[in-house]
Amino acid sequence: MRAFVLILLSLQLLVYTADAVVHRRHVGTQEGDTNALDVSGPIKEVLAQTGGTAALPCKLSDPGAGIVTWLRRRDRQLLTVGTATHSVDSRFMVRPSTSDWTLLIRGVTLQDAGLYECQVPTVPVQHQFARLKITEAYSVIPGAPDLHVKQGSSLRLECQLISATEPPIYVFWYRQGRMINYDAEPGVKVEPTNTGSILIVDKTKPAHGGNYTCKPSNARSAYVVVHIIEEEEKPAAMHGGDRRSSSGSAPSPSILLTLIFLLSASWFHRTISRHVGQYRSTT
Ligand SMILES: *[C@@H]1O[C@H](CO)[C@@H](O)[C@H](O)[C@H]1NC(C)=O
Repeated sequence: MRAFVLILLSLQLLVYTADAVVHRRHVGTQEGDTNALDVSGPIKEVLAQTGGTAALPCKLSDPGAGIVTWLRRRDRQLLTVGTATHSVDSRFMVRPSTSDWTLLIRGVTLQDAGLYECQVPTVPVQHQFARLKITEAYSVIPGAPDLHVKQGSSLRLECQLISATEPPIYVFWYRQGRMINYDAEPGVKVEPTNTGSILIVDKTKPAHGGNYTCKPSNARSAYVVVHIIEEEEKPAAMHGGDRRSSSGSAPSPSILLTLIFLLSASWFHRTISRHVGQYRSTT
């Protein structure tokens, strides 16, 4: 037993050591990358989503350091000089404060990914680097692509944003291509959540069926097709099945089977008790 525990422990140690080696090697390649780009000092990683706003920081150690310049490393494009946007692209803006001159990029696209540099005119000039990574946010509706709801019951659709770095400004809901957020339909409401939006229909009617699409301001949309199952109709009947079973005039086969079972059970019970009774009386 003791030997077994020892073997386990040494195996674990081996795994940890291997992990450490992998980790160190990973860090090493990152440094290599940095040298290749002629970048000194740490690189701040910033994540933004397509359509959102990226904020790249540039820290000032001295509030009166002078005019801060931002440029894009890929093409050495000058973006901002002081508080002025220098680039032809008006999506670039600087947000100055005494301790930080953050570069803001509005309406981020995949092409904005890469390395950015801010220069602070101290002596010697200070260079700071930020690497912008872009994620593409999308939405999901649990239950998609097809949701079956019984007529009269409530319907709750949730639009969840995935890979989003900021909340959406709005989430629009469409039914059969028509936006319904502001329709003021009785019993239908839309509520924002931390990560998207919820649509609630209190009592579903056949007219509530159809293709529901949620479209957040900053993420790919999602859809779900809602099928309202009408009360007196069995799902099978919707595909042109036996109409008699849905009309309600004849009992369904399963009810007949249950009746037959109950009848035969009671008959069986009665017969057995009678026989037992006879047996008892004869002895
Ligand atoms: C639902 O509507 C969206 C657009 O509103 C469309 O892209 C999607 O293909 C539709 N889905 C179905 C199954 O009709």
